[in-house]
Amino acid sequence: MLELNKLYNMDCMEGILNIGDNTVDIIMTDIPYNISQNKKIDRSSIDNRRLKRGKRSKELNFDFGGWDFFADNKDYFEFINHVFTLAYSKLKESGSMYMWCPKNEVSFIEYILKDIGYHVRSTLVWCKTNPCPQVFKVGYMSSTEFCIFATKTSGAKHYWNIEKGQKHSYWIKPICQGNERTEHPTQKRLDIAVDMITQSAKKDDLLLDMFVGSGTFLEAAYEVGLNFIGFERDEKWFNVANERIQSVMAQTRLF
Ligand SMILES: C[S@@+](CC[C@H](N)C(=O)[O-])C[C@H]1O[C@@H](n2cnc3c(N)ncnc32)[C@H](O)[C@@H]1O
Repeated sequence: MLELNKLYNMDCMEGILNIGDNTVDIIMTDIPYNISQNKKIDRSSIDNRRLKRGKRSKELNFDFGGWDFFADNKDYFEFINHVFTLAYSKLKESGSMYMWCPKNEVSFIEYILKDIGYHVRSTLVWCKTNPCPQVFKVGYMSSTEFCIFATKTSGAKHYWNIEKGQKHSYWIKPICQGNERTEHPTQKRLDIAVDMITQSAKKDDLLLDMFVGSGTFLEAAYEVGLNFIGFERDEKWFNVANERIQSVMAQTRLF
């Protein structure tokens, strides 16, 4: 069995096997997006202000690295099915799951989750007030991130903090800035994670994050009095997240 309040530098498919069945209160995780294949955009032919000023064009790079690379969509969806089938057995009957996922695949991923047995309840949205500008400026900016909210069971058996009242299913906030910002390309906001966690979990509950990245959800969990277990396969991001979490754990908790 794994120690609580620890981040493990390992593949979640291995790590998760060491967690007891029906022991996790909340899964909050942010899966690989499968957008890294052949996604470099060469802007050298774009007559933009940068070129007019005689500067070099910048190549936009959507290649997040090996952690986001899958052979094809079949490989990607099989991976998701495998990880979330393992995770399902670890979740308590009263448990909830928040799964951040690529916007193009939300419906398909919801279908996979339902097939596993999850009760898919809502699709939550983070509307970014300062998104990355559009390259060719002839379309909409990519200003939204999606998070599927599901529970292990249907009905009203899951924990829900009724003191927080009814909630909207969207957050309107800028991308992470200032001290919170790390180098991780898909970092999520700490305050949104805290809001979600305090809605669906209580002090001393256990949060599991299989795809830790820079450690946002582990920091949020710890700050509001939960225990956590996290897995991050990439050594670079493991070190970033571990440092972040160690520094938070050295400070006093909010609860
Ligand atoms: C979308 S990012 C998470 C970002 C995070 N929510 C944050 O706020 O920084 C997904 C992370 O999962 C990691 N990852 C991908 N496949 C993994 C696996 N099989 N096991 C563990 N970690 C994995 C990647 O290295 C990447 O850092």
